[in-house]
Amino acid sequence: MSRAVCPGSFDPVTNGHLDIIGRTSRLFDEVVVAVGVNASKNRMFTSDERLEMLEEACGPFDNVRVAGFTGLVTDFCTEHDVQAIVKGLRAATDFDYEMPMAQMNAALTDVQTVFLPTATGTSFVSSSLVKEVAALGGDVSAFVPSFVLDALRARLADR
Ligand code: PNS
Repeated sequence: MSRAVCPGSFDPVTNGHLDIIGRTSRLFDEVVVAVGVNASKNRMFTSDERLEMLEEACGPFDNVRVAGFTGLVTDFCTEHDVQAIVKGLRAATDFDYEMPMAQMNAALTDVQTVFLPTATGTSFVSSSLVKEVAALGGDVSAFVPSFVLDALRARLADR
């Protein structure tokens, strides 16, 4: 069975993430969406909240499940018998960020990284920009599922 992981911090999950997860689900028998921690980013949602939103967002995909992880993504791959890490690439800056991680992960284990180009309609969408625009009162309803929009609004109203 071919198994891939889509790792990320998903703070929060966007339609861009879901496009990559959906296309990965058509390439592999099974996909695990791994919700991790990016130590260099400030988080808006807790790990449990991000997991919950992903569970709901990935509901329509039969062969996708969601899991949290805290250690190395390569250890997660070994533990879950995952052969490939799938990442979406938006622009050259993503490539510069992802390439050293892909090479480090390959040096740590024999896991392969597969890069998928993002769809043109979501190539400018990121969790960071969604949070920034939403915090400043902009309309981000086209970029996230409706329940994520509700969670964003609720979190911003609490501040
Ligand atoms: O959505 P992000 O912030 O780009 O996700 C980054 C993430 C969480 C996938 C990445 O930081 C990661 O894989 N962290 C796990 C720790 C790890 O394996 N670090 C070494 C990477 S070479």
